[in-house]
Amino acid sequence: MANLTVRPTTPADRELVSALLTTANLRHVHLDWVPALELVEDPLFMIALHNDLPRACLAAPPDPLPIAWIRVFAAAPEDPHGPLWQTLWAGLHERAKTLEIKTIYSLALQPWFEPLLSGAGFSMANEVVFYEWRGSAGVLARNERISIRRMRPDDLLHVEQVDHSAFAPAWQNSIRTLTTASKLSTYATVCEVEGDLVGYQISTASALGAHLARLAVLPEFQRQGVGRELVVDMLRHISRRGFDRVTVNTQADNLSSQYLYNSLGFEPTGQHYPMYAYTF
Ligand SMILES: CC(C)(COP(=O)(O)OP(=O)(O)OC[C@H]1O[C@@H](n2cnc3c(N)ncnc32)[C@H](O)[C@@H]1OP(=O)(O)O)[C@@H](O)C(=O)NCCC(=O)NCCS
Repeated sequence: MANLTVRPTTPADRELVSALLTTANLRHVHLDWVPALELVEDPLFMIALHNDLPRACLAAPPDPLPIAWIRVFAAAPEDPHGPLWQTLWAGLHERAKTLEIKTIYSLALQPWFEPLLSGAGFSMANEVVFYEWRGSAGVLARNERISIRRMRPDDLLHVEQVDHSAFAPAWQNSIRTLTTASKLSTYATVCEVEGDLVGYQISTASALGAHLARLAVLPEFQRQGVGRELVVDMLRHISRRGFDRVTVNTQADNLSSQYLYNSLGFEPTGQHYPMYAYTF
């Protein structure tokens, strides 16, 4: 396409990206804590302009290195998405190599995204599966020997350590994401054993219902009832606030979490999203 410019975004591009996200007919926005527009200041956010008008954008900021997720892809209605996707991906790929990124992941939240990812060399690596709880929290007994308290801002560095010890790199959250998540949460708690933080959960609630967004226990403290206690306490808290439905998602191959959710009465909803990976 003549007069096509592909370049990294700058903070001044917020309005262009905002317009593109509003008008795009193809729009992939990752299930994210950090709003898409905030990412224009991050590395690996590329925009394509035709005659100075925004036509498409693609973002995969490292978070945390060496991992990145595709957080935004949007293409304007009049554009055939394939060529612009390829142009943006080629530009992003070149830059990613210089940043020592090892793997870029993406969820395919809509079917049209899968052929674009496959065509760019991504392959399916996992699936995100959804569960739902509609139980009665009153019947879930607390284990009083396990101490749960509200998360505080000064816990966040320890929360990050737990997170990075418990999760494989693809699923780890950076301190930036954890900080944003805790600020946006309705209920965030930690579990302490002898003064050390060994587990945490972060939950949200809105008119649509409550969601257990994050749960992790240090590997050396797993299978001791900590994860269960964090979830039971959350379900009881959220039920007292009037919610009778709680959702959670996990990875298809994460059997420990699925056993835990099943044991507490969560049921699979059948909703699932493929997860793709591109390895350098
Ligand atoms: C999932 C996770 C939070 C569970 O925490 P935990 O403290 O080990 O869980 P609990 O000890 O409370 O286990 C409660 C129940 O869950 C089930 N369960 C948990 N881990 C299990 C495993 N590895 N194998 C089989 N069942 C398991 C069991 O039914 C268990 O009860 P039991 O020990 O009496 O049999 C923990 O494994 C973890 O941090 N994993 C990595 C991060 C993660 O996957 N988070 C959730 C993703 S959304």
